Amino acid sequence: MSNLIEIKNLTISFEIEGGKIIAVDNSSFEIKRGQVVGLVGESGCGKSVTAMSILRLLPMPPGKYESGEIIFDEKNIRTLSIPELNKVRGARIGMIFQEPMTALSPLMKIGNQISETLQTHHKMTKAETWACGVEWLKKVGISDAEQKMNSFPFELSGGMRQRVMIAMAQMLEPDLIIADEPTTALDVTIQAQVFELMKEVRGNESSMLLITHDMGVIWENCDRVIVMYASQIIEMGSLHEIFTDAKHPYTQGLLKAVPKLDEQMGRMETIEGNVPAPSNYPKGCHFSTRCPHATDKCHNKKPPMTIINDSHKVKCFLATEEGV
Ligand SMILES: Nc1ncnc2c1ncn2[C@@H]1O[C@H](COP(=O)(O)OP(=O)(O)OP(=O)(O)O)[C@@H](O)[C@H]1O
Ligand code: SF4
Ligand SMILES: [Mg+2]
Repeated sequence: MSNLIEIKNLTISFEIEGGKIIAVDNSSFEIKRGQVVGLVGESGCGKSVTAMSILRLLPMPPGKYESGEIIFDEKNIRTLSIPELNKVRGARIGMIFQEPMTALSPLMKIGNQISETLQTHHKMTKAETWACGVEWLKKVGISDAEQKMNSFPFELSGGMRQRVMIAMAQMLEPDLIIADEPTTALDVTIQAQVFELMKEVRGNESSMLLITHDMGVIWENCDRVIVMYASQIIEMGSLHEIFTDAKHPYTQGLLKAVPKLDEQMGRMETIEGNVPAPSNYPKGCHFSTRCPHATDKCHNKKPPMTIINDSHKVKCFLATEEGV
C-alpha cells in the first residue's frame, strides 16, 4: 500500500504568556491509502494540534511550525499557496470536529451550507447541489431530509448535527478524513451509530485519521494506532501489535483503563497522576513522572525511538538493548 500522507519531523510551538511551549515535538508518521489510523492519548497531549497543523488550521501566531513537512500528493502542504491549499481542504482532506457547531455556520440553513460547499468545489447548479444535499442527508440517516435542508443548525439535535457534518465531509469524496473526537459530545448509543455510519459512507479507498482518548473506539475502528503522550509520539504499531504486545508503559496503562464487560461493576484501573503541563515537561522521558519503571536514567535522558519491526516503534528505554 502506498503512502497517502506523510508527516515528517513535525514540531509545533505556541507563544504563551511567559514563554514558548512545544505542543507537538518532532512527530513523524504516515497514513496509507484505505487505512484508518487512530491517534490516541490523554487530554492536552497534542492530538488536535497535530490534526489542525495538517491543514494549516492553527492560528499563527501564537502557533508556529518549528519544523516539519506534510507531504500529500508529493507536495508539502506547508508551502502550498492559499489557492492550492483551498483545493486540498475539504475536497482532498476533510475534517469532522468534536463539536459540529464550530464548523457549521449558526445563521445559515443547512441546505444553503451544503450547496455552498458543493459549489465551491464542483461546477453544479443550485438545484443540483440541493438535490445532492437531500440525497446525502438521507444517506447519513436523516429521514425528513427535505425539511432538514431548510432548518438552521440549532434546530437539530447534537447527533443530527454530527450526521450533517459527516455528510458535508464525505460528499466531496476526500482521500483523507481527519475526525477529531467525532462522537465525544454524543451519548453512547448515538456514538456507535455514528461510527457505523462513518464506516458505511467512507468507501474502501479513502483513509481516516481518527482522534480519540478512548482505546475502545480504536479497537472497533482502526487498522493502526499512534499513541501520543505529552507532545510526543511514544508508540505506534498495527492494531494487533498495540493490543497484544504494547511495549510502552503508557500504552499498557491506557489499555488497562479500558473497561471490560466482566469488570464493569468493579473499579477500572487508571494511570496515576496527571499529564504535566507543556511548560513543565520533564528533562528526560516525558512519562518519567508517572512511570512505575522510571529510573534516574529515565529522569535525565530522552529515550530514542526504537524500531521493533517495520510497523512497530516505541520510545522507551525498556525497548533498547541497554535497558533502563
Ligand atoms: N491556540 C493555542 N494557544 C496556546 N496553546 C495551545 C493552543 N492550542 C493548543 N494549545 C496547547 O497545546 C497543547 C496540546 O493541545 P491539544 O488541543 O492538541 O490537546 P489534545 O490532545 O487534542 O487534548 P484533548 O483530548 O483535550 O482534545 C495543550 O497544552 C494546549 O494547551
Ligand atoms: S523510558 Fe523510563 S520512564 Fe520512560 S516509559 Fe520507559 S521506563 Fe518509563
Ligand atoms: Mg483535542
